[in-house]
Formats: sequence, structure tokens, C-alpha cells
Amino acid sequence: FRLFAFDEIDSTNTEAKRRADEGCVNKSVFWATTQSKGRGRKTRSWISDEGNLFVSVLVKDMAPAEKLANLSVIAAIAIGETIADLAPADCDIKYKWPNDVLINGRKVVGILLESGIYKESHWVVLGTGVNVSSNPPDSEIMYPAANLKRCGIDVEVADLLSHYLDKLDGYLAQWQTQGVAELIKIWRARMAGLGQRIHVQLTEDERVSGIFKELSDEGILILQTDSGQEQEVFSGDVFL
Ligand code: BTN
Repeated sequence: FRLFAFDEIDSTNTEAKRRADEGCVNKSVFWATTQSKGRGRKTRSWISDEGNLFVSVLVKDMAPAEKLANLSVIAAIAIGETIADLAPADCDIKYKWPNDVLINGRKVVGILLESGIYKESHWVVLGTGVNVSSNPPDSEIMYPAANLKRCGIDVEVADLLSHYLDKLDGYLAQWQTQGVAELIKIWRARMAGLGQRIHVQLTEDERVSGIFKELSDEGILILQTDSGQEQEVFSGDVFL
């Protein structure tokens, strides 16, 4: 990894994208103490107070373009399993599809993947935000949040980053040599709501409910809707 550290930046994802468009190398890491325009999924903002982790990793030239969707799983388990390693045994650590990490039912990690092409090579930015010592109040966000400290995980932001990069490196290497199947197993083992009734907000005014039947080999959510049909969900916000 090649690390670029900032005291404050608009968004580490925005910076990573700018650099990707200038030909920056694979595994460049952009880390900021705070962000003035932190971004979440679906054009939401990400409140970015000092003391939390904001990092984006640029991945390119590691796999053919059709495999790059796997990075959503890899990004989730890299930070999720890092947190699981550091957490006391009574912490319930789960993934909320597609790539949030929950502790005891509350969101502590958000991930934003963005992609593009530079000189015919596809790149993906894995943007990860971890609530380490603070989180926004529930009234300001769409899913109840928590932070690591409140869950009894006392870790310095820099140490968390270095653990995370180690894990990510290992999973990326495993992906390149053995494919995604084992990584999906790791993800599936902590998947919140599998086999249960969930609600998925597909778009602003479209919501579907049903049983979370399975994850496909590509990581797509398979829902058995209340009307009895199987529906593949490619993107959306899950509510448990
Ligand atoms: C979400 O849950 O909506 C995704 C949140 C992603 C936040 C991280 S913080 C580091 C990186 N830079 C950003 O602007 N966003 C991601």
C-alpha cells in the first residue's frame, strides 16, 4: 500500500477518484482525520467528525472487469473481520447487506464503492467510514448507529487502519489466487437477517418485504417476496 494522509479533505473517496483519473497506482490509500464533504451511499452525506476513521483504497489491475463487483464483499469483510478480531466476545458483529457492519444491531461502518476507467483499465475505490469514538444521533440518520468505543472496543484510529489494511491485503491476495467463494462464506456467516423477514428500500418510493432466502454466488440478495415470487435485489437499503 502507498499511504496519502490528510488532516482535512473534502472526501477521501473524491480524492481517490481524482487520483485514479491521473493514473495513481493500485493500492493507493487515502486517509483523512476529518472530511468536509464526506459522502454516503445514494447521494447521502456522511458526518465526518475527528476521532473516526475515513479511508479510501484504490484498487486497479487486480482482476478482470467482470469480477470487480466482488470488491463489495471484500471491502465489507476486511473491516468487519478486523473489528471482530478486536472486539470482546459478547459483541454481536454482523453484516447488513450489502456492506454495512453492525454491532449489536447498530451500524458502525459504512462503505461506499465507486468505479471508473483510466486508460482502459477499470478502477474501484473502496471507501470506508468507521465510527470509532462517536456517531451521529439516530434522529439525523436513516439507520441507528453506534461506535466502537461504546461497544467496548478501544482502539487508536491509526491501529485500526493498519489492522484493516493487513486484512484487506490478505483477502485481495486470496481473491486473486482462489476466487471469491471462500470470501462469500466469511460474509455469509455473519449476514444479518438471513432466513428472516426483512424490508428493502429499493428506491425512494419503492419498498419490498419478504424472506431473505439466500445470497447468490455473486453476492446478490435473493428475496422471497410476500407475493411468493423470488426477486433478485442488486441494490437497496435493508431494514431488519
Ligand atoms: C454509507 O453507509 O452510506 C457509506 C458511507 C461511506 C463513508 C466513507 S468515509 C471514507 C469515504 N469517503 C467518503 O466520502 N465516503 C466514504
